[in-house]
Amino acid sequence: MKEQRILITGACGQIGTELIPALRQRFGDDHVIATDIHVRPSGISNYIQLDVMQDEMLELVVKECGVTQIYHLAAMLSAKGEQNLDAAWSLNVHSLLSILKIAHEQGLEKVFWPSSIAVFGPNSPKYNCHQNARTEPTTVYGISKRAGEYWCNYYFDKFGVDVRSLRYPGLISAGASPGGGTTDYAVDIFHQALEKGNYTCYLEEDTCLPMMYMPDAIRATLELMEAPKEKISVRTSYNLAAMSFAPCDLAARIRKILPDFKIDYHPDFRQAIANSWPASIRDTEARRDWGWQPEFDLNRMTLDMLERLSVKKCLPLPEQEAETLTYPDFPMDNYVASNCRV
Ligand SMILES: NC(=O)c1ccc[n+]([C@@H]2O[C@H](COP(=O)([O-])OP(=O)(O)OC[C@H]3O[C@@H](n4cnc5c(N)ncnc54)[C@H](O)[C@@H]3O)[C@@H](O)[C@H]2O)c1
Repeated sequence: MKEQRILITGACGQIGTELIPALRQRFGDDHVIATDIHVRPSGISNYIQLDVMQDEMLELVVKECGVTQIYHLAAMLSAKGEQNLDAAWSLNVHSLLSILKIAHEQGLEKVFWPSSIAVFGPNSPKYNCHQNARTEPTTVYGISKRAGEYWCNYYFDKFGVDVRSLRYPGLISAGASPGGGTTDYAVDIFHQALEKGNYTCYLEEDTCLPMMYMPDAIRATLELMEAPKEKISVRTSYNLAAMSFAPCDLAARIRKILPDFKIDYHPDFRQAIANSWPASIRDTEARRDWGWQPEFDLNRMTLDMLERLSVKKCLPLPEQEAETLTYPDFPMDNYVASNCRV
């Protein structure tokens, strides 16, 4: 097999921070080049400061470093995008087009580019939203992701570029802070629960959304990229699911471990974005084509997040009883906000 050189854009973000060590473990430190618009953060090696909007520089770096694969993560997310329409469209679409063009012209082996459940809109099914459901996104972020999906499909069809993509749900991680998405509350809540014992949520208590814990998202990304080419039947972007919950469900799980935790709700402009998205996703094609299976449900994720953050912040958790968390699975075809107002 040809020696791989992998370039990651947007490497300092929520996903990049966790994808870099995972790729370096597989391919070796020297084979994974982290890039971002920021100056090099301390503690990260093999790093190049790179603005993905600078086409010529991007092309030069790919050529000079002998890059064989790109993971293109640089983007502007949903909530920030609604407040910066032009910049969001231009970053999200222009940079993808440059990368697809470079991949074609320089004969790269593979490209990974993340899409999002934001490609769906109010006319998509609310529950069990399937791969080929109607997509009429109502945010600039969703429109840019849907356009990007078509561009990926175009470059595969016309030029054979092996570009692969996942429609990530809202991602939750104990690493870097999230960068301006509508589901960021599901990360912030853990920090505030440990530090202050209370949280004010910008979504209503029963706003159910598809979510995933970062270790599952990283594994899904690597599994998709390692799948044999002939197994990949979706060249726009794969639906991907793990769990669905509302703020009140997450608060109830946190309260099992931190019994004094309090939450209140002051919805802002992000409520309208969340309302336009499905509550649950069906990911039959990902499971069938490359064997996708999530490992983390709401219980496991809550416990793991609190354990990791409590170590990081030196704020020990109260003693847990052995049975700690049991929670019925969310029925994917409806949602009953059983934990609200408790
Ligand atoms: N985090 C989620 O919940 C989620 C969900 C669905 C899809 N995604 C997608 O995954 C990808 C990565 O998401 P994330 O959560 O890590 O985002 P993030 O906002 O945390 O990170 C994005 C990174 O891109 C960098 N960046 C911005 N402009 C740049 C430029 N011009 N040149 C180079 N770098 C630039 C930023 O500095 C930042 O480090 C994005 O495409 C996003 O749309 C994320």
